[in-house]
This record gives sequence, C-alpha cells and structure tokens, in this order.
Amino acid sequence: MTTAQLTIEPASEHVGAFVSGIDLARSAEPGGLGDETVAAIRAAWAKYGVLFFRDQNISPEQHIAFAEHFAAIDINKFFASVDGYPGIAQVLKEPDQEHNIGGGWHTDHTYDPIPARGSILLARETPATGGDTHFLSVGAAYDALPDDLKKTVENLEAHHSSAHVFGAQSKHAEDIGDRFGNSEAVGGATHPVVIQHPETGRKLLYVNAAFVTGIVGWSTEESDELLTRLYQHIVEGGFDYRYQWEVGSIAMWDNCSTWHSAYNDYPGQRRLMHRITIEGVALSAA
Ligand code: OGA
Ligand code: MN
Repeated sequence: MTTAQLTIEPASEHVGAFVSGIDLARSAEPGGLGDETVAAIRAAWAKYGVLFFRDQNISPEQHIAFAEHFAAIDINKFFASVDGYPGIAQVLKEPDQEHNIGGGWHTDHTYDPIPARGSILLARETPATGGDTHFLSVGAAYDALPDDLKKTVENLEAHHSSAHVFGAQSKHAEDIGDRFGNSEAVGGATHPVVIQHPETGRKLLYVNAAFVTGIVGWSTEESDELLTRLYQHIVEGGFDYRYQWEVGSIAMWDNCSTWHSAYNDYPGQRRLMHRITIEGVALSAA
C-alpha cells in the first residue's frame, strides 16, 4: 500500500503535523504520489492546518507536480518568480535588506474574492540561525472564544485589502523593491468573520491584522476595538507552533484555518524560500 510508510505526528496541541515516510520527488513520476497518499495528505492538511516535511530537496518541476495534486497554481501578483517558473514565487531576503516578506501575523491572499487555499513553501537557503516561521490555528482560537464574543462575531463581515501592504504607499516598497509597489494589482474583498472550513466544516475566525481594514457597517472605533480584542485572543491563546527550517524543509499551510508570521531575526544573512500557492474555493459563512 502506498500509504503504508506515511507517518503523521502532531507538532503541537493545536496546530501542525510532521509528515514522514514520503519522498515528494515521486510527485513528478507517472501516476504521481497515488490517490491514497494524496487523500491522506489532504485530510491531514485540513485537520492540522499545516504539514511539515523534511529533507525534500526536490526540483522546481517536482515542487509544481506536488502542488498540482491538490489544486491549480495561483500566481502571486506581487512577488518575483523563480527564473523560468512563473508559478513559483521567490520569498527572498538579501543580507542587506531590512524588511522581510511575511513578517507579522497574517493569512495570505485574504484580499482576493476567492482567496488562495494555501501555500507550499520550500526552504532553499536558510540563515545559520533564526528565520523560523510561526503558525497558529484560527479554529482553536474560535473554539476558545468566550460566548459573548462568539455571539458578537456571528453574521459579521469584514473588509480586506492589499493596498496598504502591496500598493505604492507600502512602507516596505523601497526596501523589498519591485516585488511590492504594484499598485495596479491591488484590490479588496469582503468575507464573513467566521467561515466554515471547506472540507471539515470547522468554524474558523477569518480576520487578520495584515489585510483586514474594518468590520462592514461598523465605525472605525467600534471596528478597531473588536478586532484588537480578537487579535489579542488569537495571538495569546497558545494556539501556535514555531517551525525551524533546514534546507529541503517544506511547510504546506491552509490559509482558511491558520495564520503565519516569519521571524526577521537574521540581519546580514540570506534566506531564500520557493513558494507555490494553490487556488481556493468560494468561502462560506459558518
Ligand atoms: C509567505 C510567508 C513566511 C516565511 O510566503 O506567504 O509569509 O517564513 N512566508 O517565509
Ligand atoms: Mn504569508
């Protein structure tokens, strides 16, 4: 059986799992990883929010083939791509750069009407120390909300936008260069504050400090007060796991059910990751 050696072990109480006993290079072979293995990975991804694989020094073609087992590739509008591979975004910090991509808690692409389903990030060059990525579960965060807050967020919607992060006025535009400041590509969307996971149906808090600009129909003051309370609950509740990279490590995260944040604690060192993002499905309110 193809799944006989596949081992999935939780990384922490609320988020993440380590997947071992699999060689993702097989993704590009005829027949790929096989339906049974793909189904097991898909189910674990939905259950744990982020999957970690080690020692997968796969080629760009194998990376693409692995991603395409799950959905079509969503091409990032703001990041430079890897030469010759428009579907692979470069998540790069050069030694002389101050800002990093993905520093600060967020979920990717929530400013799109149909946000990307998730990303498969592969470490190509890692700093000698630092450069971890922090993940947390917004499903566990929803479950642990006090009842009054659960009532408050029911049926609310939030505005999401990319303009302040990726537009011309982005505070990172100069330092990070041509990957940001793409004003033509910026946009926004409205999503329910509590969504249902498209596969498990689990209720998830779907707001994040990077891209949410306000609660629909609320004043800025009311909106900021609620969002600050929610963000504090999400970040401080112990729903997190911090992942330490090695070259060849992969993190495959679910944008519906997790937040992530990249540590920027390796000044003067280079860090290069290859990211493939895959398309999502329309979100529905819980
Ligand atoms: C991303 C991101 C985190 C990291 O690629 O979306 O936030 O650790 N990256 O590089
Ligand atoms: Mn990100």
